[in-house]
Amino acid sequence: MKLKIKLPLLFLLMFIFFMVSIGIYLKFIFAEYPHISSSLFNPSYIGVLLPILAIACFIFIILIMYINFFIEKPIGLLNRRLERVNIVHPLPPLALRSNDEIGDLYKHFNKMEKRLQLAHKEQTDMISAIAHDLKAPLTSISGFAELLAMQKGLSENEKQEYYELIQKKSKYMAELINDFISFTKEKQDLESMILKQVDASKLFENIAQEYDYELSGLNCELAYKHLFTENIMLMVNETMIGRVFGNLFSNVIRYGGKKELKVYMTGYSKGSYAYFKIEDNGTGVPDKDIPSLFLKFFTVDKSRQIENGGIGLGLASCKSIIEYHGGEIYAYSSEYGGLGIKFSLPLSKN
Ligand SMILES: Nc1ncnc2c1ncn2[C@@H]1O[C@H](COP(=O)(O)OP(=O)(O)O)[C@@H](O)[C@H]1O
Ligand SMILES: [Mg+2]
Repeated sequence: MKLKIKLPLLFLLMFIFFMVSIGIYLKFIFAEYPHISSSLFNPSYIGVLLPILAIACFIFIILIMYINFFIEKPIGLLNRRLERVNIVHPLPPLALRSNDEIGDLYKHFNKMEKRLQLAHKEQTDMISAIAHDLKAPLTSISGFAELLAMQKGLSENEKQEYYELIQKKSKYMAELINDFISFTKEKQDLESMILKQVDASKLFENIAQEYDYELSGLNCELAYKHLFTENIMLMVNETMIGRVFGNLFSNVIRYGGKKELKVYMTGYSKGSYAYFKIEDNGTGVPDKDIPSLFLKFFTVDKSRQIENGGIGLGLASCKSIIEYHGGEIYAYSSEYGGLGIKFSLPLSKN
């Protein structure tokens, strides 16, 4: 049964119940004091009752109209709209009617529709970017394989060169696929990650010690310094934050492009945030590309990319991890000549 029938029926039932109760009550009173009944049914008293009944009917009609216009109609509209949700060709957002629960329902519906459209766009963008990135090495592989199959008179040296190129391109394809898999898995990890209270200075020192050793093996020096006093606590998932540092250090090694690379890691707290900076003295990134660094699949130099690997998801992943923790991340040209990345993490309240 529809709301517009159900609710008035309910009111009518309540009204009948109310009248019957009054009737029963009066019946008892009349049994006790019979003389009241003759004066109560006096036409002048009944004359007073009629306007009361008219007012009750009026209130009843107003209630029905209110239910119809402010409850039943907006819910009906939302229902029809839910049947027509289209994330590929979105319809204009539902107009807000009021500030009550139904208004909130409309607002949440509009937000949900936006999120669905964004998720769909992200998915299609990702698929086309992956298809695009995989197509280039695959075309080269099939080109070299065709050369090897068709050209019988190739020298051993030439054959060796083509085999190596095929191997390099297929290795790059495997890395692209791995990057993509870990990026999609990371989204699920973020949804279910558990935050723990961590001492900022300990977190900083653990990361610095871990990478000091690793980077020195790759001919890269790490200089680190922090200004965290004791008991500056952060609510973080250490594995995820470790992943951010890992991505940033691996970028310096991959794209630093210098023989004597040096990385500067700094930490300090200000207001209700802890700040971390990773800067290098490498070749850096042109100013025009800096605002795009955190976009998914953005790479500065495609030709360098095939040499160094990477699909352009590393910094996008750092951004989503930091934002999930309630912080922000920026890129800038560092005073040391290379790229600088700075991110914030909120301090724990207690
Ligand atoms: N420290 C750095 N020095 C120079 N270029 C960098 C540095 N870090 C990142 N980049 C550039 O930013 C681009 C995006 O980085 P990132 O999102 O980590 O991609 P990827 O996953 O391919 O490494 C890289 O393709 C690289 O060109
Ligand atoms: Mg990277």
